[in-house]
Amino acid sequence: MRSEAPVHYDEHRKTWDVFRYEDVDHVLRNYEQFSADRSDRGDDPSDDAGSDMTVLKTMISTDPPEHERLRGFVNERFQPGILRDYRPRLEELTDELIDGFEDTDRFDFVEEFAVPFPVTVIAELLGIPAERRDQFREWSNALIARPDDPSEEAVQRMRRQRETAQREMGQYFAKLLEERRAGEGDDLVTLAATADELNQQEKIGFCMILLLAGNITTTNLLTNAIWSFEEQGVMDAVQSGDIDRKRAIEEVLRYRSPIQEIQRVTTENVELSGHEIEAGEIVNVWVGAANRDPDVFDEPEAFRPERSPNQHLAFGKGIHYCLGAPLARLEADIALDRLLTRFDRLDGDLSELRPISSHYGLRSLPCRIA
Ligand code: HEM
Repeated sequence: MRSEAPVHYDEHRKTWDVFRYEDVDHVLRNYEQFSADRSDRGDDPSDDAGSDMTVLKTMISTDPPEHERLRGFVNERFQPGILRDYRPRLEELTDELIDGFEDTDRFDFVEEFAVPFPVTVIAELLGIPAERRDQFREWSNALIARPDDPSEEAVQRMRRQRETAQREMGQYFAKLLEERRAGEGDDLVTLAATADELNQQEKIGFCMILLLAGNITTTNLLTNAIWSFEEQGVMDAVQSGDIDRKRAIEEVLRYRSPIQEIQRVTTENVELSGHEIEAGEIVNVWVGAANRDPDVFDEPEAFRPERSPNQHLAFGKGIHYCLGAPLARLEADIALDRLLTRFDRLDGDLSELRPISSHYGLRSLPCRIA
């Protein structure tokens, strides 16, 4: 599609698809013509792949100046310099999970590591009990769910589950925000509870988006890293340091981008690579396709863990550039470091790959350790 129809109208979905790096980059930077706010259209965000992040009114579904207000108060907390102080604690959390594999020679990387690690980390940052992570996961899954089949019944069932999850999560955070109004503690729920610039709904939305946005995405980055290193035969080289770990993580982000698709809506009639797009149209930018654009990446279909520069768009671009990108990178760096240091060998079993449908990742990844 990228070479034959780089900008294409999908008659079935009634949306525009954009595949080339240059166009994807342009749409994401140009927030005045391509808005993140779809509330005026009255769309049901659960019908599309962006459902996980657009269902709430938060920084991710707003434009300036609202966007600056909703993101500005937390931006600093996610800067790499600030997060660096958190490294020892992240190493400790990683080691605790790895300790659980001591008496075994195999485990499921997804279920036993890649799922619990990011949810534990974000729970700590928010200051909420990680023991409730099964509940957080249930809510997250309900909010990103797509109908099992296209029947009206399945769609209705999914909507009900989503509404329940949203209501329960909202009530959960409303109570916590109330309890933390006094402002003691430096967790993110307290930060939101004491933020004068946010109203109650915005505070709840903030807590919910943080819990949702960084979980399945980081789970998939970790899983895709082990998957790709195994598949490409570079696990040993990453382990020995012959291949730079940080660069290899960037290549995983490019090669198997956890978020493949981002949506915008046009605010006026626009021209994109020779196509006239009317105001109010949905534009899907395909980050995964852009990240394999031969005009930007040499041998884009090859996994080259030492690729540099690597200007992938896996974390988006422009004002909505992923708030949690430094955290996701830090988590991946620490997780791979600890896993490949503590085990002499870590071998993924790729004989039965079970991809997940909503994001680029796997349902399970059996690993043998020694
Ligand atoms: C935004 C990807 C991890 C929080 C985004 C966007 C992408 C993305 C593509 C842009 C969406 C858009 O333009 O509409 C990823 C990937 C991750 C990851 C691939 C892991 C590998 C995280 C983590 C957190 C997080 C760990 C938080 C703890 C957010 C937030 C936004 C965002 C709050 C909205 C930013 C804004 O609208 O200004 N992410 N993300 N993400 N991400 Fe991430």
